[in-house]
Amino acid sequence: MSKSRVLVAVPSHLNKTTHPVIMTTETKPSTYLDLMECVDITQLKTRLLSEYILPLSKQLNHPDFQFLMTNYTQILEADNWERCFAIIKKLMRAEVGTKSKPYNDIDLNKWQNYSDILTDSLWMVEKRDRSSTHNSDYWGNFIPQIPNQLLQRFTQKEDWVLDPFLGSGTTLLECRALGRNGIGIEIQEEAAVETAELIADTPNPEQVNTYVEIGDSQTFPIQTALDRQGIKSVQLMVLHPPYWNVVPFGDNENNLANAFSSTHFLDQFELVVHNCTPYLEDNRYAALIIGDIYMDSEWVPLAFQAMQRMQRQGYTLKSTVIKNVNETKGKRDQTELWRYRALNGGFYVFKHEYIFLFQKT
Ligand SMILES: C[S@@+](CC[C@H](N)C(=O)[O-])C[C@H]1O[C@@H](n2cnc3c(N)ncnc32)[C@H](O)[C@@H]1O
Repeated sequence: MSKSRVLVAVPSHLNKTTHPVIMTTETKPSTYLDLMECVDITQLKTRLLSEYILPLSKQLNHPDFQFLMTNYTQILEADNWERCFAIIKKLMRAEVGTKSKPYNDIDLNKWQNYSDILTDSLWMVEKRDRSSTHNSDYWGNFIPQIPNQLLQRFTQKEDWVLDPFLGSGTTLLECRALGRNGIGIEIQEEAAVETAELIADTPNPEQVNTYVEIGDSQTFPIQTALDRQGIKSVQLMVLHPPYWNVVPFGDNENNLANAFSSTHFLDQFELVVHNCTPYLEDNRYAALIIGDIYMDSEWVPLAFQAMQRMQRQGYTLKSTVIKNVNETKGKRDQTELWRYRALNGGFYVFKHEYIFLFQKT
């Protein structure tokens, strides 16, 4: 479709801005031109109410409902022309194009539409999302909302995601739901096969590719995995390693859960990062999800130590998110016992984990 530059004329008595509005459109005139032609602010607001707000209020499923309502309300509340026209110009810009970062599909012209996307560094998630086929019985899995948020913020549709600690495949299942491609690596063969079957049985509305590889992510030939898909790099890495030996994940000696010390665990983790990093596209993001541990009456800041290993591999830390940890049924039954232990032992019971966000710069 041919694009043309349209000069939107603003009536002279209203043109208090320094420049007329210049827009690139697909030849169609803006929906908001009539608002620009109103003779005064009262007429503008009356027309806005009858011709825009009222019809929209009957279309609750309109994809831009939130964005439009927010802007219309701002116009209604504006007490001067400059404010009205600044908002109308914003609506016109949003009408003719999108403004987005190269690493996601969020249209910044309509940023009000994304109220479900978290932007604070404290994530309080009340309940696990159970809307998909996720295997919530896999011990040590994370809630689907974690990869879901990361995929929406840091990937575009059809991008590729690498998860070198696949487990029950939560990341790849969210990839399917959101139209992203993914590769997961899992060292436990039985778990990997089960996960591959689960993924294969999950709806794939956007026909993306989601592949499970069996192997040790410290040494796995990532290049071969990418060659199999005909790609050169991935656009997001999601790393959710064991929190050292807190949860058992089989008896393979290369499973990070079986490291003989916390330093050994960190060394192995760094090897995984080192092995995968060359295949993450420059300027793209990696997320590390991990918690601290308690050992021999001492709080071990495993999460921050692992975060530093990523920095050592050249990553820039962009955010540290604290996420609440909901009690599992087993722990819930023991709440009182843990309260007693904490009071007796002079420590606090773990109720949070970390999501560290990095950029490969
Ligand atoms: C915390 S779990 C990940 C859970 C996953 N995010 C989910 O939602 O199911 C860590 C996983 O990493 C696997 N793992 C540990 N060491 C590994 C290694 N060297 N290479 C590949 N996978 C490994 C474990 O077997 C376990 O399944």
